[in-house]
Amino acid sequence: MTAEPSALPERLRGLLGADSVLTDPADCAPFLVDHLGRCRGRALAVVQPHSVAQIAQLLALCDAERIGVVPHGGNTSYCGGAIPDESGGQLVLSLRRLNRIRSLDADNYSLTAEAGCVLAQVQAAAEAAERFFPLSIGSQGSCQIGGNLSTNAGGVNVLRYGMTRDLVLGLEVVLPGGRVLDGLTTLRKDNTGYDIKSLFLGAEGTLGVITAASFKLFPQIRARATALAAIPDVRAAVTLLGELRAASGDRVSSFELIPRVGIELTTRYIPGVSDPLASAYDWYVLCELSSSRAAEPLDAVLEEALGAALAKGLVLDAALVRSERERAALWKLRESIPEAQRHEGASLKHDISLPVATLPDFVARAAPWVREHVPEGRLVAYGHVGDGNLHFNISQLPGGDRERFLGRADSVRRAIHDLVRDFAGSFSAEHGVGRLKVPELERYASPLELELMRAVKNAFDPHGIMNPGKILRER
Ligand code: MLT
Ligand code: ZN
Repeated sequence: MTAEPSALPERLRGLLGADSVLTDPADCAPFLVDHLGRCRGRALAVVQPHSVAQIAQLLALCDAERIGVVPHGGNTSYCGGAIPDESGGQLVLSLRRLNRIRSLDADNYSLTAEAGCVLAQVQAAAEAAERFFPLSIGSQGSCQIGGNLSTNAGGVNVLRYGMTRDLVLGLEVVLPGGRVLDGLTTLRKDNTGYDIKSLFLGAEGTLGVITAASFKLFPQIRARATALAAIPDVRAAVTLLGELRAASGDRVSSFELIPRVGIELTTRYIPGVSDPLASAYDWYVLCELSSSRAAEPLDAVLEEALGAALAKGLVLDAALVRSERERAALWKLRESIPEAQRHEGASLKHDISLPVATLPDFVARAAPWVREHVPEGRLVAYGHVGDGNLHFNISQLPGGDRERFLGRADSVRRAIHDLVRDFAGSFSAEHGVGRLKVPELERYASPLELELMRAVKNAFDPHGIMNPGKILRER
């Protein structure tokens, strides 16, 4: 017997306190649309619990009443994973009040943070203890660590430190039904059976609610060298990365591809962004070396390596950063490409990854395809080339019909993702599946993979209350 939906907010108020349950449309509105305005939904209520115990009670109730729960962090996702469906029968669960750094152990190089901590807060806590938390993404001032865990976020330091998954030592998770999996270990080695925690990382809240995590920390960064290098083509990027890694003793921490159009869009739309080079080139890489040794001569290493690459024609020109201000400006250029694209108009986004060495051949095939088949848009392919991850986006040319352009999304996506599959790549490198890419997962995952994912979902969430319809279609 399920409760009357209209009675539910009152029961929730009884459980969580009146201040924790939002039902007023204006209060709920920010939780019901994603930051790009592409996914909208309705909800029974938005709840903002204060504690793990409250979340456990909530999931016990929702499991018993078969009410869908949609965990919601900083709402910066690209695939609609944190937005409820249109039914109006789901609850949005905001983690924002679970925002404490629970502990930091400098000797153990570890930290434990609650899911609602903003990523920048976690970085700052590590910094204050002269340690480094390497996860770094454009939205770090507003995204929450629970969302980063649930989407296995990537970003600009993956090349050296790995994805979010690689930074996790332990998790605390509330399961549907209300039991709490207390796995906040800070052990580095623990070969005791199945790695249960890894299933929650990238699960986008479909198996349980991550409430806290313990993370690895690293030595504080004390030396950096950063440059923007113009390169002739994408193949030069791959070769240059290999050479820089070898020449620097593997000190490369970021290696980001930027196309000419990325510089044109950011200098046009983002205040304070300028092109550091005198001439225009087709492609660039933003490369950064870093070290925990203050005395390490990284500028000299980078200058010498880029000089050698220049002599070979791998690099056409380069600007080395001389101050923290110049470094920030260069990173602003890179990180504001998505925002600049939004100012330009609609865009068709594809977050793809390929084996790094095949990127040049992929771009050589896919770029002419875009020119021929999407003449009303232009390719803005940028991103984490060192990880084989490109944001292979197509920006609408100014003056076009927005709805018509967006109407092309399905057929363009199909062509690009099919080509990615032919290159043994992934249709979602770092943005997840959410609700927007469910059909893509169904198309590109093997039947066996889908069967196993479904079995995992059923094992953790037999009543299907956790973020229904995300990753896997609702049954
Ligand atoms: C980025 O790397 O800037 C974001 O992940 C991507 C995007 O907007 O596609
Ligand atoms: Zn990215």
